[in-house]
Amino acid sequence: YSLKDYNTFGVDAKARFFFEFTEAEDLTDFLEANKTWEEETIFLLGGGSNLLLTKDFEGLVIHPNIPGVQVVREDRNQVWLEVGAGEDWDRLVDYCVKSGYYGLENLSLIPGTVGAAPVQNIGAYGVEVCEFVDTVNGYDLKSQEHYSIAAEQCRFAYRDSIFKQELKNRFIVTSVIFRLEKFPEYKLDYGALKAEVEKRGELHPQHVRDAVVAIRESKLPDPQELGNVGSFFKNPVVTSQEAEQLKTIYQEMPSYPAGEGHVKLAAGWLIEQCGWKGHREGDAGVHQHQALVLVNYGQASGAEIHQLSQRIAASVLEKFSVELQPEANIL
Ligand code: EPU
Repeated sequence: YSLKDYNTFGVDAKARFFFEFTEAEDLTDFLEANKTWEEETIFLLGGGSNLLLTKDFEGLVIHPNIPGVQVVREDRNQVWLEVGAGEDWDRLVDYCVKSGYYGLENLSLIPGTVGAAPVQNIGAYGVEVCEFVDTVNGYDLKSQEHYSIAAEQCRFAYRDSIFKQELKNRFIVTSVIFRLEKFPEYKLDYGALKAEVEKRGELHPQHVRDAVVAIRESKLPDPQELGNVGSFFKNPVVTSQEAEQLKTIYQEMPSYPAGEGHVKLAAGWLIEQCGWKGHREGDAGVHQHQALVLVNYGQASGAEIHQLSQRIAASVLEKFSVELQPEANIL
C-alpha cells in the first residue's frame, strides 16, 4: 500500500497493511477482530506532515480520519470546540477566525491534521497550540480503552508532549477540545509579524492570519508543490555560557531566551552558516529561502533525505559544537 499521498515529503514508501477509519467505533471493531497485532508492528499516521519514511513498513499503518467540528460549551468570554482528529489544521484555523473564536491565528497555514497538532505541540510566531488545548480524546492500544487527557497532563513542551514520549505509538488521538477566546488577544512580537499586520490596517485576527500566511508563503515551500515537513530540526537549546562563547565569534548569531540559564539558537542560521542553504543532491535538497527546511524535488527516497540530514547535523556539530535533533519523526 503506497504511502506517497500520506506524507508531505511525497516519499513513495509502502506499508504492508493500512487501516483508515472515520468513527472511533470502527477502530475498536477493527482491533477487536484483529487482536494479534504486536505493538511494534503498528504505526500511527496522522497528516504525515512531520514524517520521514526511510523504508517500507512491514506492519500495519493506522490512519485516523475522523471529521467534525462542534461547540461543546460556551460562556461569555470563551468557547470550547471539539474537533475530529482528521480535520485539516489550517481549515480549522480559517473556520475559527471567521466564526469569531480566537487564539489559533498565529498558527495559520501549518500543514497537517488536528489530531497531530497536540502530539508535537505545533508552534509558530510566538504561539504554541498547547495554550488552547483543553482536552485530548483518544484510544489507548495498550489498555484497550478510550479516555480523555486534560491539557495539564499532556506534558506539553517545545515540540513535545506525552504523545511523543510515554504514549508514543500507543495512544490514537480521535478528537481535540480547544478552548478559544471570543475577544482577541494579540501576540505580535515575533520577527516581522507586527509590521505585516499593520500593513493591513486595523488590528483584527483575520489580519493576523493573513499576515502569517503571507510570511509563511514567502519562506516556506508549499508541500503540494515541493515535498517538505517544515522545519526538519528543532531549534537547539544550549546553556547561556555556550551561547555567549559562540557570540564572541559570531556576533550576529540569532538567539532567544529559553528559561533560566538556557538559550535557544536558530538551527536555520547555523545550517546556512555551514553553506547548506539551497544545496541540492539529486532530488533531495535544502530550501533556498529557509535552511531549516529539507525538500524533495520529486523522486528523492526517504533514505537520501535522511542521509543529507545527517551530514547537515554533522557539519553543524563540527563548526559550532551544537547538536541538532530532528523535529521530524523518522521511521
Ligand atoms: N535564519 C537564517 N537562515 C535560514 C533560516 C533562518 O539565518 O536559512 C535565521 C532568521 O533570519 C532568523 C532566525 O534564523 O533570525 C529564525 O528564523 P525563522 O523566523 O524563519 O524561524 P525558525 O526558528 O527557523 C521556527 C519554527 C517554525 C516556525 C517559525 C516561526 C522550529 C523548529 N521552527 O523556525 O516552525 O514557523 O519559527 O515561528 O521551532 C515547524 O516546526 O515545522 C516550523 C516551520
